Amino acid sequence: TAKYFRSTELQGQKALVTAGPTYEAIDPVRFIGNHSSGKMGFALAASLYLRGADVVLVTGPTAQQLPYADITVTEVTTAAQMLEACKEQAISADIVVMAAAVADYRPVEAAPEKIKKKEQGLTLELTKTEDILAYIGQHRRDNQFIAGFALETEHEREHALEKMKKKNTDCIILNSLRDTAAGFGFDTNQVTILHRSGDEQIIPLQSKKTVADEIVSFIIKYRNEK
Ligand code: CTP
Ligand code: CA
Repeated sequence: TAKYFRSTELQGQKALVTAGPTYEAIDPVRFIGNHSSGKMGFALAASLYLRGADVVLVTGPTAQQLPYADITVTEVTTAAQMLEACKEQAISADIVVMAAAVADYRPVEAAPEKIKKKEQGLTLELTKTEDILAYIGQHRRDNQFIAGFALETEHEREHALEKMKKKNTDCIILNSLRDTAAGFGFDTNQVTILHRSGDEQIIPLQSKKTVADEIVSFIIKYRNEK
C-alpha cells in the first residue's frame, strides 16, 4: 500500500462532503440528471482526509474512486436520498462542504413501467427537490463551518452572494461556466471563494486536486473566525 502523510490540522474534526449529480427517475429506464463528474467533491473529500479530518462522503452516481479506504462513502441516487443521508451526518459534522450538483426538480411520480413513445410527444410534470444545503444552513450547529458551491453563467457574484445569504453558509465557492477548461468534466477548475465577512479569494485555473487543497486551506483559515 502506498504511503502518504496526513497532517493533524483537522484531527478530531468530522467533515461531510457531497459530490456528483443526482438522478431523478422518469420511469425504470430513464432519469433527469446532469453532467457533474463528481471530481471536485471527491478531490475535496481526499484533501480534507489528508489534513486529518474524519470524512464522510455522500455521493450521487459517478465513475470516481477514492484513493483512501478510511473515507466513509454513502452512495445515493436521488436528491431525496442525499437529503436523508446528509440529515443524519450533518448533526455531528464540524465542516460541511456541498459540492453535489443536486437536481432542482424531479418528476412528480416515476412511471412504474417504461413509458412508450407517443406521436403527440410527452409532457413531464416536475416538482422541486428539497434544498439540502439550505436545510443544513437552517439547522446549523454551533461552530459548524458550512461551504456551498454556486454554479452561475451570468451575474455570478450577485447570484453567489444571494445563495450565501439564503442558505446561511459561511462561504460560497463560485464556479463560473464562462471560463474555459473549468467545471463539468474537466480535470481543472477555477473558482472564487466568497466568505460571509466580505473577504474573497480567487483560486486560479489548476487541477481540481490543487483547487481542493486551496479550498481546504481557506476553510482551515476561516473556520474559527465568524
Ligand atoms: N444544493 C443542494 N440541494 C439542492 C440544490 C442545490 O444542496 N436541491 C446545493 C449545491 O450542492 C450547491 C449549492 O446548493 O452547494 C448551490 O447549488 P446551485 O445549483 O448553484 O444553486 P440553486 O440554489 O440550486 O439555484 P439555481 O440552480 O437556480 O442557480
Ligand atoms: Ca441548482
